[in-house]
Amino acid sequence: MDDKIILTGIKPTGTPHIGNYIGALLPLIKMSENHKTFMFIADLHALNAMHDAKEIRQHTYEEAALMIACGLNLENTVLFRQSDIDEVYKLTEFLMNVTPKGLMNRAHSYKAIVEKNTEAGIDIDSGVNMGLYTYPVLMAADILLYNSDIVPVGKDQKQHVEFARDIAGYFNNIYGETFKLPEPIIGEDTGYLPGLDGRKMSKSYDNTIPLFAPSNELKKKIMRIITDSKTPEEPKNPDESTIFQIYKAFATPDEIAGFRKMFLDGGMGYGTAKTILFEKIDSALAEKRAKYEYLMSHTDEIDAILEAGAQKARMVAAKTIAKVKKKMLGL
Ligand code: ADP
Ligand code: TRP
Repeated sequence: MDDKIILTGIKPTGTPHIGNYIGALLPLIKMSENHKTFMFIADLHALNAMHDAKEIRQHTYEEAALMIACGLNLENTVLFRQSDIDEVYKLTEFLMNVTPKGLMNRAHSYKAIVEKNTEAGIDIDSGVNMGLYTYPVLMAADILLYNSDIVPVGKDQKQHVEFARDIAGYFNNIYGETFKLPEPIIGEDTGYLPGLDGRKMSKSYDNTIPLFAPSNELKKKIMRIITDSKTPEEPKNPDESTIFQIYKAFATPDEIAGFRKMFLDGGMGYGTAKTILFEKIDSALAEKRAKYEYLMSHTDEIDAILEAGAQKARMVAAKTIAKVKKKMLGL
């Protein structure tokens, strides 16, 4: 186990799908096996767009239950709720003072809104609150508070991690060596799991298979996967089939070879292929789904895990704040 510190935040915004599970959750959980990891549910980051407290709280439980149910190693991982750590609000405020406004103007997510507003001929900052505008400073505070070395994120978050690096650099330049410079690790770009319509599975395309749907709903979704119109007798190309691509993510090499052969040989209709896929996913996820459902009906157990994590996180965070306060205020 090398001594690099991994940190990542998960925004509590929606129901995860099997693409998120294969592309993001599983790699994170694997990484947590042999690294000291800080992982938090980024409820503060949801605030600029979600104004319903109940909804944020519910999604926070869902994300935490999901990580625990999927086998996150809680020995190595400090799992906590972002808003439980008061030090993050403090560090955000301190970092504001070394962060150039121009850096925020260059954030992709802010720029996208400005462009849209410009096209619509309305004020460029229409719909932009300060939470959204300063989102990258809060994220830099998350990262720098816990001395993170490595930050695994999706492609869309890479710039934010680079900003955290820049902000650490501005601080170190003014106040002397204080923060480590974090490195982003970007999830694989290739190998996206396809969704029901064959495009990348994504919330934005409404083509997802939810991770923990009840069996009957899972089956219904899988039966909706779009296929070509080959008859059952005809041989089929597994590499062009969404059914096969999804199956591959859940099956063993032997099972994959067997299923591939059934496609190539012909004699298997798509209905049968979908049933095989359903049974594979349903059984692969059954235990995790049961654990998830258990936790969601015992949220006090989730609270206890998050509070234990918060206590550990606070110890590290308090040291960072003490260091920063001394450098910036001499106190
Ligand atoms: P969505 O496209 O549904 O909005 P997000 O952009 O929130 O998903 O992705 C969250 C994480 O899940 C990212 O790390 C992303 O790389 C991963 N991910 C999302 N969709 C897929 C997919 N279809 N296959 C593999 N990984 C995915
Ligand atoms: N902004 C990230 C997202 O939208 C979530 C996040 C918040 C995060 N703080 C972080 C990710 C710190 C990595 C490190 O997905």
